Amino acid sequence: TKIIYRQPDGTRVTIDAAPGDSVMSAALAADVDGIVGECGGNMMCATCHVYVEDPGAGRLPAMTDDEDQMLAFTDAPRTTASRLSCQLPAGDTIDTMVVTVPGSRT
Ligand code: FES
Repeated sequence: TKIIYRQPDGTRVTIDAAPGDSVMSAALAADVDGIVGECGGNMMCATCHVYVEDPGAGRLPAMTDDEDQMLAFTDAPRTTASRLSCQLPAGDTIDTMVVTVPGSRT
């Protein structure tokens, strides 16, 4: 899976994620700015918040109640595109996925 991370300033980083990676773990491995993943993927921090764009969005796992609740604690505003990137597998079913990294609150 190719994951394209778009930064608030318009720059993009493209990563080839391995099966088993999440959008969060792939970002950490590649040092993508703005994705922290403080809790290690346990849905306890919301520092892995991203906005997901199609075409990937429709093929992603449905949001669980836990993810839904944790998205109330994101720094950046939540939108209908908001997901926790640790809950998004970089599986074989998705060729290319585009996510936007929220700007950090200053
Ligand atoms: Fe903490 Fe995703 S890494 S909620």
